[in-house]
Amino acid sequence: MSATVVLGLAWGDEGKGRVCDALAADARYVARYSGGNNAGHTIRVGKEEFVVHLIPSGIVRAGVVCTIGNGVVVNPEVLAEEVSALENRGIEVRGRLKVDGRAHLILPYHVRLDGYREKALGKAKIGTTNRGIGPTYEDKIARVGIRVQDVFDEGILRAKLRAALREKNSLITNVYGEEPYDPDEIADYLLSFRDLLEPMVADTGALLRGAIKRDEPVLLEGAQATLLDNDFGTYPFVTSSNPSAGGACVGTGVPPTSLGEVIGVTKAYTSRVGDGPFPTELFDEMGETLRRVGNEYGSTTGRPRRCGWLDLVAIKYTASVNGITTLALTMLDVLSAVEEVKVCVGYEIDGERVDEYPMSQTDLHHAQPVYKSLSGWGVDVTGCRRREDLPEEARDFVSFIETELGVPLCMISVGPERDQAIVKRIGV
Ligand code: GDP
Ligand code: IMO
Ligand code: MG
Repeated sequence: MSATVVLGLAWGDEGKGRVCDALAADARYVARYSGGNNAGHTIRVGKEEFVVHLIPSGIVRAGVVCTIGNGVVVNPEVLAEEVSALENRGIEVRGRLKVDGRAHLILPYHVRLDGYREKALGKAKIGTTNRGIGPTYEDKIARVGIRVQDVFDEGILRAKLRAALREKNSLITNVYGEEPYDPDEIADYLLSFRDLLEPMVADTGALLRGAIKRDEPVLLEGAQATLLDNDFGTYPFVTSSNPSAGGACVGTGVPPTSLGEVIGVTKAYTSRVGDGPFPTELFDEMGETLRRVGNEYGSTTGRPRRCGWLDLVAIKYTASVNGITTLALTMLDVLSAVEEVKVCVGYEIDGERVDEYPMSQTDLHHAQPVYKSLSGWGVDVTGCRRREDLPEEARDFVSFIETELGVPLCMISVGPERDQAIVKRIGV
């Protein structure tokens, strides 16, 4: 038995929440492995819409155990709010949500530093979600982070905060000219989350490895996406974790030999929220149409998402980085609004045709998309439940993507609702 990974192939918001929700119907465990509440995963259940930022999407499916892995960064206030918000909507959370004791905590000074940094960068800003994600991972790597388990040893907690803030306060006051933090105040603030955290804290890696051994279905839910990966994405316009498949192991404690299916999720076009290169971005009416029809506004920050055509050069690269075994294609219905569909099949970089995703940032900034045009279908596809129900032009479009990527499609999503999908081969 092995764990299934679901991850994004572009710059996030591909519909991972929606795909995970479909898979969670058969799962026993759903685990988040990277990022924090910079994510926003939407699940529609009839007329109800749930947007989860930190808690795995599996929480919407009764009986599924959800874990927040060691690779995730946890803002305890957001955790408390998200638990209450879900419970107020009738979803039982506390009995089946586990948080890894090794996960790092996002503290108020991380959130503030995120804002100061962005402001200082000016026009070169990353366009972060301003949730303190980067500064928290920085502290983790610098070995001055505060972990969930530290909340249960007051002595260690206070000592670690004093050590962490010695340097941090000097940065906050001397570089940014802001007020310093009192380590004891932060310690008291953290201790106030003890009661919430205590029943949830677990060695979630051990839980998942045990489940895999017992042949119980485990789903690892990606957040952000491969082009935002700190190593493989459009650095420095990336997030500070590894949303790609390798991160699923490091961020959960599930060994690589226990991974089975790796499901890559892509929209039928592309969106990006935040700054950084985006070769197929559309600045015209067409971009506006995709944004309007696709309702492309950030699930976390509400920012309008930048929209453009599907970039197969980028998706082939991310499919290969992740070793995807199957593909989930979302938002096919949105392309019903366009007469002609374009797909980027190559780049022109400084007068030269390039078919491989460039490693160099400079090349990527110079990349001009080379498009293949396909006929649009112009009719509503939200009612299609079998591939053969799709109009011929839509079938040609999905077959083209499938052939180019060389992996079979497991799901074609034709709307945000649970049942609005063509599902071929799914099951954790
Ligand atoms: P995630 O971050 O990858 O989970 O994606 P988000 O939830 O941030 O954004 C995806 C958005 O598209 C959400 O509003 C979903 O309800 C919506 N959505 C997902 N799949 C489809 C689809 O096939 N068609 C349409 N029209 N909307 C979809
Ligand atoms: P989901 O899981 C889209 C982007 C931010 C910014 C960059 C760095 O919903 O797909 P950060 O706050 O992480 O330091 O910001 O990453 N970003 C996302 N964009 N979807 C997300 O999550 C994102 N999480 C981070 O907009 O460009
Ligand atoms: Mg999202």
